[in-house]
Amino acid sequence: MPATPLPSITLATTPGKDTDILVVGLADASGTDVLVGVPDDLAASLKSVLGGELAELVRGLGGSSKNAHPVLLPGPSGLRVVVVGLGDIDVSPEQLRRATGSALRLALELTGTKPLRVAVSLDPIEPDVIKGVVEGALLGAYSYRPAGQGKPGVGSIQVVSSAARRPEAKRALELGTGTATAVCQARTWINTPANELYPASFTDEITTVAKAARLGVEVWDEKALEKDGFGGILAVGGGSARKPRLARVSYAPRGAKFHLALIGKGITFDSGGLNLKTADGMYTMKDDMSGAAAVVAAITAIAQAGVRVKVTAWAALAENMPSGSAWRPSDVLTMYGGTTVENANSDAEGRIVMADALAKASEERPDLVIDVATLTGACVVALGERVAGLMARDDETADQILDAAEVAGELFWQLPIPEEARGKLDSKVADLKSSGDRNGGALTAAAFLSEFVPAGVAWAHLDIAGPAFNEHEPYYYVPSGGTGTAVRTLVALAHALEG
Ligand code: BES
Ligand code: ZN
Ligand code: ZN
Repeated sequence: MPATPLPSITLATTPGKDTDILVVGLADASGTDVLVGVPDDLAASLKSVLGGELAELVRGLGGSSKNAHPVLLPGPSGLRVVVVGLGDIDVSPEQLRRATGSALRLALELTGTKPLRVAVSLDPIEPDVIKGVVEGALLGAYSYRPAGQGKPGVGSIQVVSSAARRPEAKRALELGTGTATAVCQARTWINTPANELYPASFTDEITTVAKAARLGVEVWDEKALEKDGFGGILAVGGGSARKPRLARVSYAPRGAKFHLALIGKGITFDSGGLNLKTADGMYTMKDDMSGAAAVVAAITAIAQAGVRVKVTAWAALAENMPSGSAWRPSDVLTMYGGTTVENANSDAEGRIVMADALAKASEERPDLVIDVATLTGACVVALGERVAGLMARDDETADQILDAAEVAGELFWQLPIPEEARGKLDSKVADLKSSGDRNGGALTAAAFLSEFVPAGVAWAHLDIAGPAFNEHEPYYYVPSGGTGTAVRTLVALAHALEG
């Protein structure tokens, strides 16, 4: 699936002579603004042009130490300088990720006919802040443009650091690049329109990516799904001419002591089925495979980093369409494993495909099962568009994921799975009904999913319906469209589970 290729990224101790755009910082040091990362020769030449105290001058030209606030200044001999606010001088990885992302987005707007060479001179020293800069730069430079329509964009990025030669810095570059590349892969899959990305074409993509990363891959087509009794995936996919699929990607490194199973919702388009969505509600529903994109992207980054944790990623893929062969409200489905489900609403399709995949994935008795899904509008109502919901069987698991999200710089908020939620799913004709009323819809959905993970298996559910797709203007390192939400948290979690 075409997107503008990612820039190359390297570490350097000083900006290259051929730099087109130099990014430096303005930080708040106990109430005084100070410039960060301005090379001596540039400081001298700016001073001779402008005279006076540099940080003051930059402020006079609209610069601010407010985090992620960028301004463009002309530099000597055609060099363009972006001064970006870093916030407090005691800067966190996420502050740097945001600031660098904003600076790169500004740089991206300056693209001419040739790919730009950008040097990010913020002098990060510690590996976690170097990684923050690397991720912010690559994520901010991302642009989704179909083949042939792309501008050249940013061609190369230098991350300027006095620690550039240290092995830890090189490892941080490698890890940041791997994670950001995976996030951008997820974004591109999400942004690809549903006439191009459908279950079969998505499994082709998954197979290609998995093979390139030397991962195991297995795909169930509609016949195999039928043979093995995946009644949920088949029901949801039944209304579409594009047949459903299930993909399993596996990474089993030597010495792994922990098995993490990741399950992603892969509805390549959610029309709502016979419970048809409104035109407005349907427009962004090519993003309803963001969970599947996230888990597949995450496993490739985890494998590339060589994390010693066994990971199995499952993508439950179907297109939810209304037609003469569509699943009906009130249909009773027999799911993988035999549980029967009454379809309360064909627009609650995600939990149905996820239920099959959760039951299948749990057969392997993983140590932890995490599912990722753009599951409910209710979660967006509860937490807004930038915060994802987290529901878990136990608080220890929830805390582990929240800690990983903190490290990764993603926003999650824990929601409960109260007993009352399960009560809403009682059915007169089946083991379970698929949905309850409008109230607490995110929690009811989680209670439904929980039924398909055997008791005793640790499980958490990430509802990314809000942040998976940015319908508004870009901000920080987040573009409009697919965001790649959850990839960074899953990668950080795998690192943490390695022990
Ligand atoms: N894919 C949607 C959820 C969604 C909504 C994602 C908005 C992103 C933005 C999901 O399949 C859905 O339609 N859920 C229904 C469930 C309801 C019928 C019980 C919902 O949330 O309204
Ligand atoms: Zn739906
Ligand atoms: Zn959906």
